[in-house]
Amino acid sequence: MASIEQIDLSKLPKHIAIIMDGNGRWAKKKLMPRLFGHTNGVKTVKNIVEFARKLNIRVLTLYAFSTENWQRPEEEVSGLMKLLKLYLKQELDSMIKNDISLKVIGDISKIPTDIQADIKNAIEKTKNNKALILNIALNYGSRQEILRACKILIDKGIKDPTEKDFSDCLYTKNIPDPDLLIRTSGEKRISNFLLWQIAYSEIYVTDVLWPDFSEEEFIKAILDYQKRERRFGKIA
Ligand code: FPP
Repeated sequence: MASIEQIDLSKLPKHIAIIMDGNGRWAKKKLMPRLFGHTNGVKTVKNIVEFARKLNIRVLTLYAFSTENWQRPEEEVSGLMKLLKLYLKQELDSMIKNDISLKVIGDISKIPTDIQADIKNAIEKTKNNKALILNIALNYGSRQEILRACKILIDKGIKDPTEKDFSDCLYTKNIPDPDLLIRTSGEKRISNFLLWQIAYSEIYVTDVLWPDFSEEEFIKAILDYQKRERRFGKIA
């Protein structure tokens, strides 16, 4: 059994990004509607955020809603928005208490305006917190982010940008690239997530569906990461 004592605290990933997949399949297996899966997915979010904080992970990025997710049935989209609103309401005090700073990547101008206000309020109230950055990807798509960065560079008049110039135009400005990318539910895809930022990330895919992703599964991912030799294109 994987346990917290096995983790080498000197080799912790600073930034973990997660593609939280499998809520729908989890619900289907239980003969329940998809939203039941998402509701249970939120429970996992709360648990994993709390655990990441305890482990001293510095940044946790969660893919909550992609630019493609609008194409899901209206009922599922509005259900996900309601869950997001509820999550922000229920978790703000705990973020403040636990020194967690909320950030959002993606184009939130398309999100219902009341939720935009809740997001901005939570970002503002937690902006000076230092222990963990909880970075939620909302209406996020990496191609959209890259195009947006190109337009910002043009607006700035930068004709010959460096990698740093480009990174500074991404939503993730000032956030280090993920060391570890986790995807649940077995699909081996990136799904338009952080294409630029994961250039050298270690990728860990587990068959476990997101609502079943436990602390132990999280530890397994970190232990697997700690076994890898990261060379960044160089030789050992
Ligand atoms: C993928 O499962 C999951 C999503 C598209 C949404 C993830 C959202 C949550 C976990 C809840 C909301 C998040 C927050 C931060 C409040 P899927 O529906 O694609 O599953 P499937 O592939 O099995 O159908």
